[in-house]
Amino acid sequence: MSLLEMSGLTKRFGGLLAVSNFDLSLDAGEIVGLIGPNGAGKTTVFHLIAGFHAPTSGKIRFKGGSIVGSKPHAICRLGLTRTFQIVQPFAGLSVIENVMVGAFNRERDAVAARRLAGEIVDFVGLGPRRDLPARSLTLSDRKRLEIARGLATRPEMLLLDEAMSGLNPTEIDEIIGLIRRIHARGVSLLIIEHVMQAIMALSHRLVVLHHGEKLAEGAPGEVARDRRVIEAYLGEGA
Ligand SMILES: Nc1ncnc2c1ncn2[C@@H]1O[C@H](COP(=O)(O)OP(=O)(O)OP(=O)(O)O)[C@@H](O)[C@H]1O
Ligand SMILES: [Mg+2]
Repeated sequence: MSLLEMSGLTKRFGGLLAVSNFDLSLDAGEIVGLIGPNGAGKTTVFHLIAGFHAPTSGKIRFKGGSIVGSKPHAICRLGLTRTFQIVQPFAGLSVIENVMVGAFNRERDAVAARRLAGEIVDFVGLGPRRDLPARSLTLSDRKRLEIARGLATRPEMLLLDEAMSGLNPTEIDEIIGLIRRIHARGVSLLIIEHVMQAIMALSHRLVVLHHGEKLAEGAPGEVARDRRVIEAYLGEGA
């Protein structure tokens, strides 16, 4: 049985078909990369899966049950959590307090939530900055904080939306290492990313969206050689 499965997924915004008849299935333990040009519909797919938008039509199942129409917090509680492309921490709260907000999804008690948040802050490498306000963090650390907030909900599947955008090559390597460590803890991942060498290195399978439709799917090396993918997205230099 697939961990996450969507079929015929469609989202219309007025006259714009942002996602069109999209099928995707992920097994437990997989890392799948979702790539495609700006405006292809990638983030919209995340909004649909995580319950932020209702699909116009189509099915989404997580652990065998339909999650269409479920609220984001309910989907999160089932074990499916997404991060945001535009990171939006509570600027005035400290790093640890921001992560506690995620931890409260699992732990009712403040002491237990703080303990879980502390473990995760250390895990993502923000331990030395745990008491600083989120607004004082660099972009790279804000990206880590966004991942930490997601991890604090104890997901079985994590959806990462451009966790590396705007980072330099050293910072990108650190996030790749962090994603590998998250995967090693047993979390399955669906990752949107424009940083090609990173998504090629991390993904077991790549799916390409173009104008809301699936253009290609397969092993990273195969997809990168696909003529239609080169023309629509990668360019001839790839
Ligand atoms: N709430 C909305 N209302 C109307 N149109 C929207 C809405 N959200 C997204 N769109 C449109 O849907 C299309 C897909 O957008 P989406 O953000 O999913 O693309 P993306 O693949 O994530 O792009 P990028 O790589 O730039 O992040 C775009 O044309 C976008 O303008
Ligand atoms: Mg996007």
